[in-house]
Amino acid sequence: MAILRVAQLGHPVLRAEAEPVSPEEIGSGELNSLIGDMIDTMRDYAGVGIAAPQVRVSKRLFVIEVRGTDRYGNAELFPLTVVLNPTLTFPTDEQSHDWEGCLSAEGLRGLVPRYTRAHLEGLDQDGVALSLDLEGFPAIVAQHETDHLDGRLYLDRMTDLKSLGFLDELARYHRSAPRPDPAEAG
Ligand code: NI
Repeated sequence: MAILRVAQLGHPVLRAEAEPVSPEEIGSGELNSLIGDMIDTMRDYAGVGIAAPQVRVSKRLFVIEVRGTDRYGNAELFPLTVVLNPTLTFPTDEQSHDWEGCLSAEGLRGLVPRYTRAHLEGLDQDGVALSLDLEGFPAIVAQHETDHLDGRLYLDRMTDLKSLGFLDELARYHRSAPRPDPAEAG
């Protein structure tokens, strides 16, 4: 297991369309080692999710985990979940704007519109089909991570860049800004 360096905004891997994980790769030592490293890296960076392109591997997989730490004390908890080849659908049109950050855009936060509910399908680490109904914070994280696989960052989803700022300044001057909470998504 290793903690990997997270690619930062400007690295082309963050803008590439990632390749599907092939059936042959599932269960392989190489893929399982990558997944282990992604989990270690997410936890070390205190993220709530990380997608493979963020560790410079252009494949369609991500991990999500929201733990009851102080930092994310207000967010809905979500158990460690590995998703290969995810697809998302949205059962309602309802959206909300919430603060997001990204391990690949360190220190920044902005208000991003996201669907409040999402249905996530894909495969787990062993290739078993997953089907999850998500709501609230985990639904936001799943949308954020799936976007990474399509070369999309939360900044692209913002409808008003005026809310974009560095966390320290936002916490000082914006009443609604995260403090020190949430969503350093992934
Ligand atoms: Ni991210």
